[in-house]
Amino acid sequence: MQKMRLAIAGLGNVGRRLLELIELKREWLCARFDLELVVVGACDSTGGAEDSAGLDLARMIALKREKKGLVSYSTRAQREMHPRDLAGLAAADVFVELTLTNLKDGEPGLSAIRDALAHKKHVVTANKGPLVLAYQELAALARANGVRLLHSATVTGGLPTLNLGARDLGAATIEKFEGVVNGTTNYILSRMAAGESFDDALKSAQAIGMAEADPSLDVDGWDAANKLVIIANAVLRYPTTLGDVSVEGIRGVTQDDLRAARARDQVIKLLALAERVGAAYRLSVRPTALARTHPLAQIGAGMMGVIYHTDINGTIFASIQEHDPYPTAAAVLRDIVESKR
Ligand SMILES: NC(=O)c1ccc[n+]([C@@H]2O[C@H](COP(=O)([O-])OP(=O)(O)OC[C@H]3O[C@@H](n4cnc5c(N)ncnc54)[C@H](OP(=O)(O)O)[C@@H]3O)[C@@H](O)[C@H]2O)c1
Repeated sequence: MQKMRLAIAGLGNVGRRLLELIELKREWLCARFDLELVVVGACDSTGGAEDSAGLDLARMIALKREKKGLVSYSTRAQREMHPRDLAGLAAADVFVELTLTNLKDGEPGLSAIRDALAHKKHVVTANKGPLVLAYQELAALARANGVRLLHSATVTGGLPTLNLGARDLGAATIEKFEGVVNGTTNYILSRMAAGESFDDALKSAQAIGMAEADPSLDVDGWDAANKLVIIANAVLRYPTTLGDVSVEGIRGVTQDDLRAARARDQVIKLLALAERVGAAYRLSVRPTALARTHPLAQIGAGMMGVIYHTDINGTIFASIQEHDPYPTAAAVLRDIVESKR
């Protein structure tokens, strides 16, 4: 049986679920892929632990469920362990980066990913920040070092938007991409369509933990734009940064707009759109009225959906209902397995 040794930075919502899925799928991974996953290093913001024979997953899961830091994992846990220390861990084959998204400078994930690639380790990440800020640089670094940079969980969590576009539609030209890719704005617009004001809908999104105390990343369209940047680079093969996307959020959507749309048998969604124009793509995120029969008009609260319009593969629609971080953690697990191929 092949052993794959993992170093994991970040054991929050996604990281802790990943540990649970590694436990849950242990026999399945062995039977299907002849693969055993061993976590040889892990860290959170309090510190970290390493053991080349394998850390005790059940103990780490219990700690994180109790909202404790990894620094209390054992007497040998280290207070001063940074994701970069794990990126260079000699005992690890794959570096899994699941720290928080930071769109200002990408840290602490960006330098750790650079280090891991430079150390010729495969990288799996769910973290948008480093990819939005440095997609082309990181992809080139992975190529130069002969390793994989797998990040399918960075866009739409468990919905395999990137794999569908980059792999399954690999022989096609994408003429147009449309997506409802931000859960928070979709929830708010769905509540507003049912008669609530923007402020009340935002408050209820915050009350259920869907929206942050500072919701601007979501409601001003930047989260959707970040995802579109990754899709453009990874699927459309169109080198793109955030400055290339025209962005408008949902703060300006009024009850009058929603009523007028309803009267025309339309539904307003925050649409991420890429349209091919010659050899380039025009990229935008903005509230858009869709015919009620449009597949993305059916994407209700708690869902995300994407459509690829292609030259030779027809039109493909995919959606997901995602209520917790398990599908995202499952996407990370799939990428880990994929890194062995
Ligand atoms: N949640 C989802 O469904 C979802 C979906 C798609 C993508 N993502 C992305 O996946 C990543 C993880 O998401 P999440 O929901 O798990 O976030 P989270 O719950 O905030 O967890 C972040 C983890 O990173 C750790 N961390 C923060 N700063 C650190 C530092 N300087 N050094 C080491 N560790 C540090 C935190 O430590 P503590 O535990 O000590 O706080 C925590 O374990 C994010 O980039 C997010 O955008 C999440």
